Parts: sequence; structure tokens; C-alpha cells
Amino acid sequence: MHIIIAALFVVIVIVLLIPTIARGDAKVSCVFKESCILPCSFQGDIEEDPYIHWMHLSEGHPLVYLHYDNKEQLTTQDQQFRNRTSLFKDQLSRGNASLQLAGVQVQDEGRYSCYISTDNREKESFIDLEMHTPVKVSIQHVGNRITCSSEGIYPEPELTWSTRPPSKVSFKNTTTVEQTKQQLYNINGSLIASLDESDRVYSCTVSTQRNRRRASLRQLQQINGSDLEATISCSSSNTSLMSLIWRFNHSQIIVSRSGPSDNYTVSERWKQHVKGVSESGNLILKYLSSDQDGIYSCEISDADETVITETCMRISEGNSAKVGVTIGVVSVLALFLILCCKKKRDKLEDK
Ligand SMILES: *[C@@H]1O[C@H](CO)[C@@H](O)[C@H](O)[C@H]1NC(C)=O
Ligand SMILES: *[C@@H]1O[C@H](CO)[C@@H](O)[C@H](O)[C@H]1NC(C)=O
Ligand SMILES: *[C@@H]1O[C@H](CO)[C@@H](O)[C@H](O)[C@H]1NC(C)=O
Ligand SMILES: *[C@@H]1O[C@H](CO)[C@@H](O)[C@H](O)[C@H]1NC(C)=O
Ligand SMILES: *[C@@H]1O[C@H](CO)[C@@H](O)[C@H](O)[C@H]1NC(C)=O
Ligand SMILES: *[C@@H]1O[C@H](CO)[C@@H](O)[C@H](O)[C@H]1NC(C)=O
Ligand SMILES: *[C@@H]1O[C@H](CO)[C@@H](O)[C@H](O)[C@H]1NC(C)=O
Ligand SMILES: *[C@@H]1O[C@H](CO)[C@@H](O)[C@H](O)[C@H]1NC(C)=O
Repeated sequence: MHIIIAALFVVIVIVLLIPTIARGDAKVSCVFKESCILPCSFQGDIEEDPYIHWMHLSEGHPLVYLHYDNKEQLTTQDQQFRNRTSLFKDQLSRGNASLQLAGVQVQDEGRYSCYISTDNREKESFIDLEMHTPVKVSIQHVGNRITCSSEGIYPEPELTWSTRPPSKVSFKNTTTVEQTKQQLYNINGSLIASLDESDRVYSCTVSTQRNRRRASLRQLQQINGSDLEATISCSSSNTSLMSLIWRFNHSQIIVSRSGPSDNYTVSERWKQHVKGVSESGNLILKYLSSDQDGIYSCEISDADETVITETCMRISEGNSAKVGVTIGVVSVLALFLILCCKKKRDKLEDK
């Protein structure tokens, strides 16, 4: 009995699915602002002048493209598609009536029909256009709040947090989503982290149906650098396949490399302080002073993830600075004396 019901169920499902399969719309996945080709073709060559009619099957069935008398006929073309459509003229005689649509936007999503006819043949086919954007995610922290944001993405994204190793404490998270005029989404999330548990990685993942990207933040302990040389570590993972940027105080770029086979570029401002970058991405600095006290962040990215490792460094005066310190002490003493004298004199004058 159960078997019969199951069999019936399968048959029903198949019968229901057939129209969808049979509809056989071609699916095209387009990237926001880029050009996209909507495929449409006729079997065999087209000798005579074909009539080609492209329509968007949205409300009102706006005209996308029209071609007859051997030329495009665009006076009745819908405003939405103005200046953005073209056929491949050299391909027409081969029965290829594919449409190139430039600057794809959210409104262009949906079903299209392509109708071709010649004196003795005609054909209509349907194309489903879906649009998406790449996903970029940025993560940063201010105090113990970590914020994560991603802008201009489509379709609607989701934001999730995770930690490595997994955190037992459940963190409070807030997420807001807004839609821009172009119908793209901006998403923001934040959580309060316990950054004193150093070496825990906080990750934020923004995902759409098509794309996803993760940004992670790892805060290392404070280190005390010597003025002679200091090494700041980046990450234990294999950096040989990734792009890498070292930043100071979240803004100044110290060194960067855009790909694994590129050389590192050292910014002019940091040339005198950069001794090198190790194979694993560690930054080696030299000739330091308290001017270089601050936050060093290493940002490595691959196709799926960006990992930012932050280290706070304080330079402790040492070896090479001894002469400098002596001079420094002398000058401070001198300054002190001058100020003291001035104060005394001021006091005397006040009286
Ligand atoms: C299309 O291009 C023409 C000429 O470059 C321009 O005058 C017109 O405003 C454009 N139309 C749209 C809808 O962008
Ligand atoms: C039609 O022409 C376009 C542009 O050259 C090409 O990308 C596409 O593959 C062609 N389609 C067919 C069915 O030949
Ligand atoms: C965000 O917090 C809510 C409860 O406040 C929780 O249900 C949800 O799973 C959290 N989301 C993520 C991605 O951590
Ligand atoms: C995300 O955060 C920034 C800075 O706090 C704010 O300016 C922006 O409006 C926020 N966006 C959303 C979608 O909440
Ligand atoms: C760095 O120096 C400070 C003060 O001099 C000290 O308290 C701290 O323990 C030192 N940290 C490390 C990692 O050596
Ligand atoms: C990093 O990856 C490269 C290329 O796949 C490989 O040659 C190298 O041995 C790896 N290094 C480490 C430390 O895993
Ligand atoms: C990297 O540096 C080496 C040695 O200075 C040079 O030969 C090579 O052309 C550089 N490569 C790139 C991609 O700039
Ligand atoms: C860098 O940041 C540290 C700590 O926030 C600050 O003390 C220092 O003045 C900053 N340095 C520069 C050059 O902005």
C-alpha cells in the first residue's frame, strides 16, 4: 500500500515538474553594471532579412529590441533599454540573434522573449535573466565593538557571525539592512566582543544566494618592539597564495602586494623603517621610535576571505638610542631649567 502511495507521489511530482523542465528557459546570470549576452538563435543560416523582436516580460511587456528591413528599429524601444542593446551583426546570417545588454541593473531581471521570423520559419524562445553583484565585506573594531559592513550587493544578503575557536558566550549582535535607490542592499552588523581573550578570531560572513565572503578580525596581544628591529607576525596560514597589505593605525599603508607573484611595494613614508617581509607575511621593521607606536594590521585576502590581524606595538627605547637618550635627557633638562627660570621670573614680575 505504502509503495503504491509513494509511487503515485513520485508520478505526481514528475508530472508537476514537466512543464517547468519543458519550458526550458535559458538562464543567464549577469553581473551588475557589466555587459551580458542573452542567447537566442535559429537553426541554420538565415539568408533573407529576418524579423527579430526582443521583449521583457515584465509589466507592460516593454520592447527591448526590434530589427527588420536589415536594420534596428528602435523608435519604440522602452526607455529602460535605451542605448544599452545591440545584436552581433556579423553573427546574424548564421542565425545568431543573441542580444548584448550593457550596464545591467536590478530592473533588468526577469523573463525575456526572443522572436525571430523569416519568410518561411519562425521561433520564439525565452530567457531568464538573474543579476548579482560581487560581495565585499569590511570589518573593523572600535573599542570592543566589532562592526562589519557590506555595500551595494544583490540579491538580498544575510550576515552571520562566528568565532574561532567557537565561543561559549553568546554575543549580542545587531544587523540592519537598507536598500539603495538602485535597489541594491547595504548591510551592517555589529557585536560586542571580549577582545581580552586574545587570539580569538571573529568572523563575519555576508552571503547572498550566489556569492559569499567572509571577513575576520584577530587581535593579538600588545608587543614591545625594540628600536633596533621588531617583527610583527601576520598569520599562521599560508600567505603565499594571497594578496597582503600591512597598515599602520588603520590608515597608512606600509607595504602591499596584490598577488602571490608580485613584489612587495613599500610606501615612501615607511621606506626607512621596513627591513622586509618574511615568507609567511611577517613584517620586519627597523630604526623605530615612539613615532611608530600604534596599531599594525595585516590584511590578507584570497577568493573567499579577508583576515585582518591587529597588533598593538610600543617601542621600548634601547641599544641604539642610548646616545639619543642622553641627548634627549640633556635637552629635556635644559628645557626644564629654562621653563623654571621663566616661571620664577614671571612670578617675580607678577609681584
Ligand atoms: C542615448 O544616447 C544619446 C546619444 O549619445 C543621448 O542623447 C541620449 O540621452 C541617451 N539616452 C538615454 C536614455 O540614455
Ligand atoms: C552568438 O554570438 C555571440 C557573440 O559573438 C556569442 O557569444 C554566442 O556564443 C553566439 N551564439 C551562438 C549560438 O553561436
Ligand atoms: C544574532 O543574535 C540572535 C539573538 O540575539 C541569534 O538568534 C542569532 O542566531 C544571531 N545571529 C548570528 C549570525 O550570530
Ligand atoms: C552602517 O553603519 C554606518 C556607520 O555606523 C552608517 O553610516 C550606515 O548608515 C549603516 N548602514 C546601515 C544599513 O545601517
Ligand atoms: C611590555 O612592556 C610593558 C611595560 O614596560 C610590560 O608591562 C609588558 O609586560 C611588556 N609586554 C611584553 C609582551 O613584554
Ligand atoms: C603554501 O602554498 C604553496 C603553494 O600551494 C606551497 O608550495 C607551500 O609549500 C605552502 N606553504 C606552507 C607553509 O604550507
Ligand atoms: C620583482 O623583483 C625582481 C628583483 O628585483 C625583478 O626581477 C622582478 O621583475 C620583479 N617582479 C615584478 C612582477 O615586478
Ligand atoms: C597611532 O595610534 C596610536 C594609538 O591609537 C596613537 O597613540 C598614535 O599617536 C598614532 N600615531 C599616529 C602617527 O597617528
